[in-house]
Amino acid sequence: MSDAAVESRDAIENLLSEDRTFDPPASFVERANVADPKVWETAAADPEAYWAAWARELEWSRPFTQGLDWSDAPFARWFADGQLNASVNCLDRHVERGLGQRVAFHWQGEDGERRSVTYAQLLEEVSRCANALRELGVQRGDRVAIYMPMVVELPVAMLACARIGAAHSVVFGGFSSQALADRIVDASAKVVITADGGYRRGKVVELKAATDEAVRMAATDGQQVESVLCYRRLQGHDTPWTDGRDHWWHEIVGRQQAECAPEAMDSEDLLFLLYTSGTTAKPKGIMHTTGGYLTGAHATANMVFDLKDDDVYWCAADIGWVTGHSYIVYGPLSNGVTSVIYEGAPDWPDKDRLWSIVAEYGVSIFYTAPTAIRAFIKWGDEHPARHDLSSLRLLGSVGEPINPEAWMWYHERIGAERCPIVDTWWQTETGHIMVSPLPGLTRTKPGSATQALPGIEVSVVDEQGEPVGRGHGGYLTIDRPWPGMARGIWGNPERFVETYWSQVPGRYFVGDGAKIDEDGYLWVLGRVDDVMNVSGHRLSTTEVESALVEHPAIAEAAVVGRSHELTGECVVAYVVLEGHHEASDELIGELNAHVSERIGKFARPHMVLFTPEVPKTRSGKIMRRLLRDIAEGRELGDTTTLQDPTVVDALAEQVRSRG
Ligand code: WT7
Repeated sequence: MSDAAVESRDAIENLLSEDRTFDPPASFVERANVADPKVWETAAADPEAYWAAWARELEWSRPFTQGLDWSDAPFARWFADGQLNASVNCLDRHVERGLGQRVAFHWQGEDGERRSVTYAQLLEEVSRCANALRELGVQRGDRVAIYMPMVVELPVAMLACARIGAAHSVVFGGFSSQALADRIVDASAKVVITADGGYRRGKVVELKAATDEAVRMAATDGQQVESVLCYRRLQGHDTPWTDGRDHWWHEIVGRQQAECAPEAMDSEDLLFLLYTSGTTAKPKGIMHTTGGYLTGAHATANMVFDLKDDDVYWCAADIGWVTGHSYIVYGPLSNGVTSVIYEGAPDWPDKDRLWSIVAEYGVSIFYTAPTAIRAFIKWGDEHPARHDLSSLRLLGSVGEPINPEAWMWYHERIGAERCPIVDTWWQTETGHIMVSPLPGLTRTKPGSATQALPGIEVSVVDEQGEPVGRGHGGYLTIDRPWPGMARGIWGNPERFVETYWSQVPGRYFVGDGAKIDEDGYLWVLGRVDDVMNVSGHRLSTTEVESALVEHPAIAEAAVVGRSHELTGECVVAYVVLEGHHEASDELIGELNAHVSERIGKFARPHMVLFTPEVPKTRSGKIMRRLLRDIAEGRELGDTTTLQDPTVVDALAEQVRSRG
């Protein structure tokens, strides 16, 4: 078992037993979308039939007759003989049933700009954008990179790709040019959709300039980007421009027809790629296909968020991550619900911004991450207290384990003890929520994601794949194929098999440690591999290490995550200097700048520790557990087996002196 796994086992032993339980309020139960407590049993009796019933809620231009095809395991195929189009299911289907005038998105810019877009308007805009992409030469089967702020045109661009059968690869706007370039090259994207910029804490983020740089870098790496489609978000901004290659959205999209015939896609055609960090320096392009993914996103949004016609739903994530793909774009839109999109920071211009948005639109369902909840707690109760939050009826959490204190605060201060909380466990690779309470049925325990959704089967096992039994910690695995599961890693099927299907015999290896308690409740305990979780963003230790060693002053680097009261984990880097270089604050500044350039600002080390050597085992493996103990300021165990124990003592002293 890896160091990290042993550590999570320790965490399990140390975990205080949580005795508080909360039943869904009677008023909620009466109206709940899923109200039959037999749903788990029914689904377990025939999971394929269960998922097929959800799939039939979608509109198929050619109905499927097949369910799961697992003959090429672990590469699943769902509903493979069916055809459908994701944008039709998110838009045309609702307009055709008379819901064209319903608001799809209430959008609010950080600068206070407001816009509400109906389903009919969204369909027109998507059709225009799809026609523009065709004009730019995008064909069915192509990949299109999207690097945009949180504006309505971002979902428009995604759905436009889906409409013409091109796969989108959305790159979070906080990633650097280099990270964007890597993703453009890996996916061989010929077209990039971006904006001149976006707002973050009152400042302009120069997305077009970053895109230009990425396009240059991609070209030197052999990938020629032919066209850049640029949405104008800013006013009076001087935007760098390359004639012939660059196209303003308002010009080329603006002059297209408002109808666009959708491509009939095979269920297993690629819908999108989304890059995520693994345990190596190279991000993985996770592949999601059309029919299964959409079925899963649709069904889980409906079950877990209990979506109703009169809801105003708000997932306060960024569309650049999977949460936004599944629960801002595909899940809510396929359910025809009204959502909120907010462009900016939660504390701009003031720390009550989110609550003022909840009150303004009468948000009824709110979904965010524990890291945000911990920030709200720190900012103080007066901010939510200033606003009328009585429209809320359901709260959600995602991205990392939610500590019971944060859960209780969310329950009391935001939910007024009236709203069920759904703590949803899932991953980029699972496509949609896998473990979560059903809000009208599940008795919740603060800090537990409770149990697998109907149709999903999970276990906690040891290395041999044997269930460890209740009350014991082990590896979380998923035991049977599900519709939204990743279909592979773009260009690297071997890595897919190796990462997810080779660790534990016969089961999907999640990478998280977990425990199922005596009452059958699942507790997720964090990663057991070399992956960090910073503010709910997945980050690989090796990715940061390889960025650091690129710097000429650095001979060697080891990176670990350390717990942080707000961000969950933060990055701690141990660096060995090259030859004549000397430790200084200036150098730390340079290293930070370099990591920002290589990956993005969010990956910058919180603490850089200089050391003459990195503690390693005799076989030369970095002793990450020891490095984590040092970073946490924990009592160090026996260090006598180390080649030079004084190195470790000196590091521990450095940490102590820096607090
Ligand atoms: C990893 C997946 C799912 C969208 C956001 C992150 C952690 C996620 C929970 C939760 C405990 C959670 C896991 C998982 N995680 N949700 N409710 N409780 N941990 O997506 O970047 O693919 O990261 O996030 O460690 O493996 P991602």
